[in-house]
Amino acid sequence: MQDRVLTGGTAPLNPASAAARFGIIERPDLTFTPEIARETAHLYERVKDFIPAIEWPVFAPYVHAINRIKKERGAVILAHNYQTPEIFHCVADIKGDSLQLARDATRVDAEIIIQCGVHFMAETSKLLNPDKTVLIPDGRAGCSLSESITGADVRALKARYPGVPVVTYVNTSADVKAETDICCTSSNAVAVVESLASDTVLCIPDEYLAMNVANQTKKKILTWKGHCEVHERFTAAELLAYKEADPRIEIVAHPECHPSVLEVSDYAGSTSGMIDYVKTKRPGRVLLVTECSMASNIQAEVPEVDFVKPCNLCPHMKRITLPKILDSLLYMTEEVTVDPAIADRARLAVERMVNLKH
Ligand code: 13P
Ligand code: SF4
Repeated sequence: MQDRVLTGGTAPLNPASAAARFGIIERPDLTFTPEIARETAHLYERVKDFIPAIEWPVFAPYVHAINRIKKERGAVILAHNYQTPEIFHCVADIKGDSLQLARDATRVDAEIIIQCGVHFMAETSKLLNPDKTVLIPDGRAGCSLSESITGADVRALKARYPGVPVVTYVNTSADVKAETDICCTSSNAVAVVESLASDTVLCIPDEYLAMNVANQTKKKILTWKGHCEVHERFTAAELLAYKEADPRIEIVAHPECHPSVLEVSDYAGSTSGMIDYVKTKRPGRVLLVTECSMASNIQAEVPEVDFVKPCNLCPHMKRITLPKILDSLLYMTEEVTVDPAIADRARLAVERMVNLKH
């Protein structure tokens, strides 16, 4: 690898940067050759239902280069269930929902983690792996929930409700996590709330997740007015119209949806919970009330299931693309760091969740 490290750049690299520490790799030729066609054929099999054969020559050189350079770098690619099929099926090493990715991030051997997801996910990986280099292919990949609240907001809430424990959804910045007693994800929110001794719990910032938790616990739940811009768009009326058209259709929803949506659903759970439900129950027709890419990512494994896709895209997740992943690997960008003044407290909140037995 050493002979491919560029040494003659015009601007000197910041010596503390990941690029200076690991070196920059020269951009590979991205021509679709017969060799690349042969070596990526097994990967195309996994995505052939979503990527027309005529388009594969555009994707394949990136897939090939990413998989090769990933090995040279000793990097591991973590991908959320909402990543596009060519990322999810062709370059990801570890895939899952927010909790699985947080847990798996603690078990990663590699020195470099490339996080294909949104910024709070990369920050969580960095919190759990302070000595590793965590890169996100596009640092602008945010989240409407994460942006709905700041650390100062949580401090104000704590002053208003002294002694009330704070459960913070993992979809938040490290600044917010640092003010928190324990984090939760959509798959363990009820268990986290139940694990606390207090009868009243602040469950922030997702108002709908908190309302859905409140429906499953006797504790008094206080919340915040944050919403997921993808899941808040689904309505019960829209889903009932699908049910009316085909009563056999099963509706599987994410708990970031409004409680009225969950009421007309057959199952509600985290993205991985939704995937497990479809794989286990194998309904004839299913409507996934969540981000678009999920259905595409599991369709190949359950070919007998007919997916109805009302399709709401998460624009933040969609910022992550193959060309940007390749750039991350070549130029070691964009490095995710957490302010040391808040990192220890934020890490504690995530670790309490990861270590929770349930
Ligand atoms: P999961 O934890 O269910 O993967 O959810 C993350 C997310 O951002 C859903 O919008
Ligand atoms: Fe955030 Fe919603 Fe996108 Fe998930 S789907 S990352 S909660 S904006």
